[in-house]
Amino acid sequence: MKSLFLSTVASLVFAAGASSMLAASSIDQHASDLLKGDCDRECMAFIVDQVLASMVVHNPYILPMAAIYQATENSHPAALGMMTAWRTVTEAGPPSLLAIDTTQGSAYFALDVSEGSDTERSILRGRVKVVNQEITELEVFINRYRGDHGFSFSAAELPSNYEALMSPPDNRTKASRAALTALSEALFATSSNMSVRVDANCQFTEIGWKVIDTGTYNNETTTPLSCSWPSDHPTDENARVGLVIDEKLGFVVTSGMIQGKVYPYQNVSAFIPDAMTSSQEAQNVWLNEVKARGVKGLLAPTEATGETLEVLQYYNDALQTMQINVYMSGPNMTSAWL
Ligand SMILES: *[C@@H]1O[C@H](CO)[C@@H](O)[C@H](O)[C@H]1NC(C)=O
Ligand SMILES: *[C@@H]1O[C@H](CO)[C@@H](O)[C@H](O)[C@H]1NC(C)=O
Ligand SMILES: *[C@@H]1O[C@H](CO)[C@@H](O)[C@H](O)[C@H]1NC(C)=O
Ligand SMILES: *[C@@H]1O[C@H](CO)[C@@H](O)[C@H](O)[C@H]1NC(C)=O
Ligand SMILES: *[C@@H]1O[C@H](CO)[C@@H](O)[C@H](O)[C@H]1NC(C)=O
Repeated sequence: MKSLFLSTVASLVFAAGASSMLAASSIDQHASDLLKGDCDRECMAFIVDQVLASMVVHNPYILPMAAIYQATENSHPAALGMMTAWRTVTEAGPPSLLAIDTTQGSAYFALDVSEGSDTERSILRGRVKVVNQEITELEVFINRYRGDHGFSFSAAELPSNYEALMSPPDNRTKASRAALTALSEALFATSSNMSVRVDANCQFTEIGWKVIDTGTYNNETTTPLSCSWPSDHPTDENARVGLVIDEKLGFVVTSGMIQGKVYPYQNVSAFIPDAMTSSQEAQNVWLNEVKARGVKGLLAPTEATGETLEVLQYYNDALQTMQINVYMSGPNMTSAWL
């Protein structure tokens, strides 16, 4: 059964012609690894490649799914065979970011993909969990443009932004699993006094883009924002902590359901978490001003929930990367994963 599956995938990988895919000799190696008990880093990477290759050939049925698996696409549950990604994705891989947790058998991946258009690429990101070399959980998101999550988006800049994160300096001081777990626990905690040192070069992105916020009045900074660890951060007492803990590269992935409001912002809109009360208040002040000036075409402020898979990278005793990856749903939503 397994070897049939593996040879099918191996030939499929080449039929798909995805540049990401592994050379024939390493496929044989990974195939034999897969037949063993454990799923090491290469085995986990291979499974992620399989997920991406299966999307490109529009066939999830080649994947090694567990008898019962959990899966969501853009926050809602569905069988893989009904998911949009397996219908629309025409080019995917290799992942630009790949965090692997061999202790839990989980991985997080993110990349830009084509859904048929080279000019309007989408961003695919997700989390996979594997038990006995079978996929038990698959949580995927496709962000197609800015409104899917609230503001920032760059499929074009994602590959180069993420490339740097995948090769941290060799002489770095790695964080322990316990330290990465503590960071994840503090991220959306309602009460945490954890103080986190932020590296001067910490890379802050939202959906592939180094965030440049010119302010509601379009008169503020034009350089990318740096990371911060604010005390008024969004909270979620049911946050899913330590989903993927990659001790080698220093990544930790946390999920929170963040309640907020989508406000008109310049001539577009922005999702502002409820925890950022001063930002919401400033937006109300601005909105009253522009309304008074008779400006037309403003989105009504509307409640929303941002399902967040936040990726942090931590080494040298400092935060090196902060990625706020959001997909929005209606107000007061909870997660299918709780
Ligand atoms: C690592 O090497 C770089 C470049 O040689 C050096 O600037 C840095 O201080 C070193 N970092 C540590 C933690 O040793
Ligand atoms: C943080 O809070 C814990 C428990 O509330 C307390 O024991 C600890 O001393 C506090 N640490 C700091 C740095 O305030
Ligand atoms: C931007 O403009 C607003 C409104 O005129 C003003 O209150 C604010 O101080 C300005 N910010 C900067 C950085 O100039
Ligand atoms: C609206 O924003 C877009 C993107 O920043 C810009 O290209 C366009 O000129 C703006 N339109 C108006 C009327 O301000
Ligand atoms: C969402 O929950 C908040 C807090 O309980 C409540 O104030 C708000 O009215 C709710 N929104 C909707 C649309 O039900």
